[in-house]
Amino acid sequence: MIKIVVFISGRGSNLEALLKDENNYQVCHVISNKQDIKGLAIAHAQGVTNSYINWSDRNRAEQISTNIIKGEAPDLIVLAGFMKILSTEFTDRFKNKIINIHPSLLPEYPGLNTHQRVLDDNKTTHGASIHFVDGLLDHGKTISQIQIPVDHNDTAKTLANKLITKEHKLLTLTVGLIAKQQIYWQNGCLLFNGKPLEKPLVIE
Ligand code: GRF
Repeated sequence: MIKIVVFISGRGSNLEALLKDENNYQVCHVISNKQDIKGLAIAHAQGVTNSYINWSDRNRAEQISTNIIKGEAPDLIVLAGFMKILSTEFTDRFKNKIINIHPSLLPEYPGLNTHQRVLDDNKTTHGASIHFVDGLLDHGKTISQIQIPVDHNDTAKTLANKLITKEHKLLTLTVGLIAKQQIYWQNGCLLFNGKPLEKPLVIE
């Protein structure tokens, strides 16, 4: 059983999916940069230790987060809808330990408004990715992806709604693979079942 710390900023549906699953992993602490959000209520209702950290001073917020993480000593840190950019100092401190879920098929569409940008470009496929976090935005080794088709009558809202349930599946399966040590780092190389992961795993 591995321990994970989850960072959130809002609704917390990905956090909720993790809490429902907890297959070989346990959420030990939830950190939020926003107060009075549904995600914190979910953590509270499930009896998971949670902390609100005011992020107006990033250095201070990251120092508090670091202290919490050092206290919890988790095996993995999951950014699940966490809308702040972490400093390189912070990501280096927890190198190869932080993963993020992002609603696009990275390396395409890092950043915000991914659904609308996919529509603007007349893409026929959209999706979500899980990647290890480095100092750059939505950047770092991509572990896994899930895809959805884009229909001609889709809007940013319908795409977001279709993708979110897929995100939950992608996140729980990927954290499960890390928890079962099917995915792990060795000598700077990400391995899947003992072999270098050349391309992201595609979850059906
Ligand atoms: C998800 O679409 C996630 O990929 C993005 O923000 C959204 C968070 O949703 N980064 P929730 O808070 O997990 O419901």
